[in-house]
Amino acid sequence: MSQLAAKHGAINLSQGYPNFEVDQQLKDLVNHYIQAGFNQYAPMAGVLALRQAIARKKEVLYGCSLNPKTEITITNGATEAIYSTISALVGAGDEVIIFEPAYDSYVPSIEVNGGVVVALRLKSPDFRIDWEQVKDAVTPKTRMIMVNSPHNPSGVMLRHEDLAALQEIVADTNILVLSDEVYQHLIYEGRRHESALRYPDLFRRSIITMSFGKTFHVTGWRIGYVIAPPEITTEIRKVHQSNTFGINRPLQHALADYLATPEHYLSLPAFYQQKRDLFFELMADTPFEFLECRGTYFALASYRKISDMGDQEFARWLTREKGVAVIPISSFYSDGTDEKIVRFCFAKTDKMLAAAAEKLVGIEELSPAHSCLV
Ligand SMILES: Cc1ncc(COP(=O)(O)O)c(C=O)c1O
Repeated sequence: MSQLAAKHGAINLSQGYPNFEVDQQLKDLVNHYIQAGFNQYAPMAGVLALRQAIARKKEVLYGCSLNPKTEITITNGATEAIYSTISALVGAGDEVIIFEPAYDSYVPSIEVNGGVVVALRLKSPDFRIDWEQVKDAVTPKTRMIMVNSPHNPSGVMLRHEDLAALQEIVADTNILVLSDEVYQHLIYEGRRHESALRYPDLFRRSIITMSFGKTFHVTGWRIGYVIAPPEITTEIRKVHQSNTFGINRPLQHALADYLATPEHYLSLPAFYQQKRDLFFELMADTPFEFLECRGTYFALASYRKISDMGDQEFARWLTREKGVAVIPISSFYSDGTDEKIVRFCFAKTDKMLAAAAEKLVGIEELSPAHSCLV
């Protein structure tokens, strides 16, 4: 969709990345560490100062006590964290339960390692997990259950009851849990992030993936991390070592210093909530029907009032004819489930959001728009 947006000069609200500037203080710190000569290989598990800063942060946020030496590994974005985890822990024939719509690296990472994807479908508008269905899907071959909260693309968050149900299902089994929490700070109306780190019994068999790209508007830096108990971390590092060895060193030092000021991440919910509210307000006069967005920087909207096209076709049409690119959510389902919903990314400047809304406000309801499409 980003390529199509570029081709047609459309405003790109498709791919999930911010278009605003990185904090000058963070950029200065990177410069500082490059000038100061921190330019050679970083330790394989990550710069210790950064791992210590992460451990302190998690203790403050989630009340857990992590050993930075044995439980935290810095990775090439959360994508590498997910891949190295699956590659280390999922073998041929192992079943992995995922919930779709799902971030698009999950299925290929499982399949390329010989795992078998067991995809359970979440349905709009609430995209809730049916834990009875999960129980039924568990077999002796189930190796892992992957959850993502706050959830891309739906913006739904797991609640305490969800974590409790998950914990009960995996207790006394060999099933591992991969909890993808890259949007941990993008949570609205003061909700509590139910991290797997808050649940000691669950954490014993969990792997948590996180991303600085999402947190500090630096998706191009490719820095994330994976948290897991020591014996699981040892296995993940065996893959990480051959995959990337170490991650960009000056950036790690800069992030370690930057994390020392909690305001840098504690201010994020208010910052993005303002963006979300502005976007909804700007889009209020369009025929799109928005679903509730509790977290992430994505908003889902049904376009049923505009067209009955499939979502892929609709997204291409919107890009080409209306100049705004979005993501069709069938792309997040391996069977192409089409709920006639598209995803907007609102991690954009206010000016860009206003320009996009201006292009969409005049869009007509079903019949006229439809007739020009088909
Ligand atoms: C749910 C989810 N997990 C993981 C990632 C990957 O994060 P990173 O950019 O740090 O690799 C993304 C990025 O869009 C995502 O949406």
